[in-house]
Amino acid sequence: MEIAEIKKEFCRIYGGDENDIRIFKSPGRVNMIGEHTDYNGGYVFPAALKMATTIAVRKRNDNIIRLKATDLDGIVEADIAKLDSYRDLEWGNYQLGIAYVMQQKGYDICGCDLLYDDTVPHGGGLSSSAAIEVSTALMFATFNNEKKGISSPVNMIDMALIGQKTENEYCGVNCGIMDQFASAMGKENHAIMLDCNTLKYKLVPLKLGDCKIVIANTKKKHGLGASKYNERRSECDAAVEALKTVLKGITCLADVSPKQFELHKNVIENETVRKRAEHVIYEIDRVIKSVDALEKNDIASFGKLMDASHDSLRDLYEVTGNELDAMVDEARKISGTIGSRMTGAGFGGCTVNIVKSDSVDEFIEKVGKGYTERTGLVPEFYVSETGNGGCEIK
Ligand code: GLA
Repeated sequence: MEIAEIKKEFCRIYGGDENDIRIFKSPGRVNMIGEHTDYNGGYVFPAALKMATTIAVRKRNDNIIRLKATDLDGIVEADIAKLDSYRDLEWGNYQLGIAYVMQQKGYDICGCDLLYDDTVPHGGGLSSSAAIEVSTALMFATFNNEKKGISSPVNMIDMALIGQKTENEYCGVNCGIMDQFASAMGKENHAIMLDCNTLKYKLVPLKLGDCKIVIANTKKKHGLGASKYNERRSECDAAVEALKTVLKGITCLADVSPKQFELHKNVIENETVRKRAEHVIYEIDRVIKSVDALEKNDIASFGKLMDASHDSLRDLYEVTGNELDAMVDEARKISGTIGSRMTGAGFGGCTVNIVKSDSVDEFIEKVGKGYTERTGLVPEFYVSETGNGGCEIK
């Protein structure tokens, strides 16, 4: 919805006039390369999208938070004194989790009426949850600062960390920092090369020449909460434990180079665990090579690295599944496709593709048809533009 429309809808639901409504916004993300590396201390390379969560908010004078989404019926009502107790809500737990985590950290959480409008597809692997988390955190932090007379701008990296903590501790998903960081810190026409160990980052221009980023939604929900994600994390921890016996001092897989891995991989006795580690260690290396290629305007090499990333996620990390593999397979049949891979956690969700501008129509038509024939699902395509990180819209 346009902002004017959201404000109108807000007044229809909560009454009052538009003058005291404020608007906060934070985007979803697409990860270009570097998958399942963030919680291993490695590099990721996400870009913020134009698709975003927009919040319309009006402060209240009591301890009540009311929440509503433009596409859902019903209003959720919460008490600021009981923020710990909304973990099991079907919708609203992310928002109230943010409020809870911030309250624990000493932020002043005020009563308010909220209307959420999301354009990031839900469960599509484009971080609709991070968009909600970061926009909500920014809003509460802004109100906190105003109340306490703090004039410095909100630290967006802190907002990302609050988002991750909420997801880990309130919502029970053991995610890394990538999604929230991209939602908080993204910049139009750039991707972020982020070192997830140190949170040092570099904004890299996404100069794609005569190519476009096409996101293909398999429409298979990815179910991130599913145990598979946490299972992969434990397998990576097991790999670190095994490698530690010969590589003293390592704390995560990002501390191991491909060369060291080849020398010592046999200390990992479990074959599955060895495959997981191999993916992570080479994927981190692919991020470094991708950024290098992009900086040299070598899009063809970047595309090959994307392809290698998908194949590794399919064969070694085993997080793709029929739908993502079919989508990538169909994409690779189009001569104008430079690179194609799954993006996000996997098991469904979206693929990201670099496609020659003059092949985009052909891509959407033929990949869509081929994918539906193979899976029975009707995909969605977004010729995607990158956007900026979270902010208040004045
Ligand atoms: C999800 C998580 C991220 C990251 C990706 C996989 O999006 O939220 O932290 O681990 O999966 O790269």
